[in-house]
Amino acid sequence: MESQKIQNNNQDLKLQNENLQNEIISFLKSRGFVYPSSEIYGGLSGVYDYGHYGYLLIKNIKDAWMKSMIQERDDVYALDSAIFMHKNTWIASGHVAGFNDPQIDCKKCKFRMRADHTLEDFGISADKQSIEWINAELDKLRVDKKLICEKCGSSDLTEAKVFSLMVKSNLGSPTDSLSEENVMYLRPETCGGIYLEYKNTIDSLHPKLPFGIAQIGKAFRNEITAKQFVFRTREFEQMEMQYFFNPYLENGNVKETYFKNWQDYRWNFYLNYGIDQNRLKWYKHEKLAHYASDAYDIEYKYKMLGDSFKELEGIHQRGDWDLSQHSKFSGVDLSYFDEESKQRFLPYIMETSVGVARMMLAFIDNAYKVEDLSKEVINENGEKVIKQDSRIVMKLDKRLSPIKVAVLPLSKKENLQNKAREIYKELSKVYMCEYDESGSIGKRYRRQDEIGTPYIITIDFDTMDETNINFETVTIRDRDSMSQERIDIKSIKSYIRSKFD
Ligand code: GAP
Repeated sequence: MESQKIQNNNQDLKLQNENLQNEIISFLKSRGFVYPSSEIYGGLSGVYDYGHYGYLLIKNIKDAWMKSMIQERDDVYALDSAIFMHKNTWIASGHVAGFNDPQIDCKKCKFRMRADHTLEDFGISADKQSIEWINAELDKLRVDKKLICEKCGSSDLTEAKVFSLMVKSNLGSPTDSLSEENVMYLRPETCGGIYLEYKNTIDSLHPKLPFGIAQIGKAFRNEITAKQFVFRTREFEQMEMQYFFNPYLENGNVKETYFKNWQDYRWNFYLNYGIDQNRLKWYKHEKLAHYASDAYDIEYKYKMLGDSFKELEGIHQRGDWDLSQHSKFSGVDLSYFDEESKQRFLPYIMETSVGVARMMLAFIDNAYKVEDLSKEVINENGEKVIKQDSRIVMKLDKRLSPIKVAVLPLSKKENLQNKAREIYKELSKVYMCEYDESGSIGKRYRRQDEIGTPYIITIDFDTMDETNINFETVTIRDRDSMSQERIDIKSIKSYIRSKFD
């Protein structure tokens, strides 16, 4: 009885989570944030496009990251390296040989599954395990008839095989084939470009250790499954920073100190931008990628992805793996000479790495609220009744909000519209603003709440009425409290500025 109850509860919860996921995905599409790519051709799995508000939100997220990682530090430099790099970059880094995931195929419906994820569904952690180990575990499930296709339920599945995540192109090739000799790879992570430009950064900017290089850019992975909306896609953007340091200093355990400092720094970034701390946790990797000597993830508990903790950002100790490999494969000495200690060595690297869309999804997941605004009213018969009402509101940190201020004339009266346009024109020189005159004022407030606009200025009849005490004033509505205050038109700019300072 009890176990039946738990099972039913779990099923209810799963359904609720799926509903929330579908609700947010369709909300983001209908409000111009995220569209599935190539929809008119039937779609392209694992690729998404960003509409007006999605683009603006992402731009603000990237600006926030750049501000924190570069502007507010004096030891990190910017870079924008090309997506295409010499083929040897990815042979040296170990990606060509080893950047793989285990894949199983359904022989009946041809659906592809990630074998390690399938095992995880049965509580078996297959992180970084060999293909032989994975197949042995899958065989145990086969014996119990538990191994079935996620899509059609067939048990006629292939063995797991190694599948390379590297995306290939024939850029610059004299033929259109993709042979070993003429293949070029699209970068699977942006940090490759940082290692290749480490020497030019030193030669041109002359930084002293420790210093970092940060960049934001596209990366491509032939992910086997891409079914969690923008959480895991085949084309995505990363924000990565590589911190180069001298591991041989004698004052304390520098490696651990830098690691701890960056862990705190990145954790605090999320708190500073309003992520609920109860939805964040650390995950320490026991099994490490070939390049890493220590690795932690900041995980976020995504309500819309089953209310479960999932990797948001990785913080890794990479030691001298990257510089030594690139030195070896390029034949160029990438060692650093430290003037003070007169030592020559390969700096160690620690990195912070996060996907832009994954971060956006965490911010949206954290901010998306459906608020009950039902209240008691007196109806036409003089009786107390409950008037049902609710609103969707995205309580984003205002620095991330796509639109900072909306300017609305209360009615379609020309003088109100002209005044509203005038204010909008002035404010939009400084802030991303929106002018909206369509529909009732209530609907327009809701529309702005939904896209997360923190301030709404309304120009009403009092604004234009010379005889009224409120002449030349407007109301400013706060998204979160929904309260309004009246201020002079003359002080709008300083009022808004004070909110963003
Ligand atoms: N340079 C190290 C590196 O790329 P990773 O753990 O493979 O490490 C780092 O990726 C971060 O990039 C992840 O924590 C995640 O935020 C993001 N990421 C990785 N694969 C992704 C994908 N297919 N779609 C979206 N984001 C992805």
